[in-house]
Amino acid sequence: MNRNFVLCILACTSLLAPSVQAEAPDLSQEAMAMIRRDFQPRGSAGLNRLDQDAVQAVCNRFANKPPQQLMGLLQADQQAAIKFPADGNLLGDWKAGEALAQSGRGLTWSDSPGTAVGGNCYNCHQLSPAELSFGTLGPSLLKFGKLRGNTAETQRYVYGKIYNAKAANLCSNMPRFGHVGALGEKQIKDLVALILDPESPVNK
Ligand code: HEC
Repeated sequence: MNRNFVLCILACTSLLAPSVQAEAPDLSQEAMAMIRRDFQPRGSAGLNRLDQDAVQAVCNRFANKPPQQLMGLLQADQQAAIKFPADGNLLGDWKAGEALAQSGRGLTWSDSPGTAVGGNCYNCHQLSPAELSFGTLGPSLLKFGKLRGNTAETQRYVYGKIYNAKAANLCSNMPRFGHVGALGEKQIKDLVALILDPESPVNK
C-alpha cells in the first residue's frame, strides 16, 4: 500500500470519526506500553511482531468497528493485493492440505529457523469428524464444500480468504497467511482442496 495513502487514512479517520461513529476509549498507548514491557523477543519472534500495519491500527483504534467508508477502502486495498495463481488453477492436493491444516509448527519462538510452517487451521476451525480436538474461534468448516459448492467462484473466495482474510472482513481474527508470506501459492492451493474437494475429509 502506498505510504502516503496510509498516512492520509490514519489522519483522515480523526476527521471522519466523530460524525460517523463514536471512538472506543483510547487505551492503546497504555496497552502498547504494557505489551512492550512484557513481550520478550525469543527466537524468530522478534519485537517487530508488535508493529501494526494500517489495517490493524484502524481495527484496534475503532474496536474492530471502523466507519463503513474507511472499511470499504481498506478492504478493497487488501483484496487488490491478493496474488492469485498465474495458471488459474486454485485446487491442489487435499492430503497435503490436511497435513498443513493440522500443523501448528513454524514461526513460533520455540521453532528453529527454517522449520516448515503449518497452517494451524485446526486451532480455530473444526475440519473433520475424526478430529479429537479443535479450536472454535472460527466457524466449523465441516462440509464446507458440500454446502457451498466446489465452483470457480467458491474456490476464488476460499483462496482469497486463506491468502488474506481481511480482504473480505477487515477486522477478522484469522491470520493473513499469503499476505504476510507465511504460506506460499502451492500450500494455499492444497488448503483450498482440503476445504472444497469432495474427497477431502472436510466433505465426508
Ligand atoms: C486464529 C484463528 C484462525 C486460524 C488459525 C484460521 N482461521 Fe479461518 N477463520 C477464523 C475466523 C475468526 C473466521 C470467521 C471470520 C472471517 O470470516 O474472517 C474464519 C473464517 C474462515 C473461512 C471462511 C468461512 C465462511 O463461512 O465463509 C475459511 C474458508 C477459513 N477461515 C479457512 C481457514 C484455513 C484453511 C485456515 C488454515 C490455513 C484457517 N482458516 C486458519 C479464524 C482462524
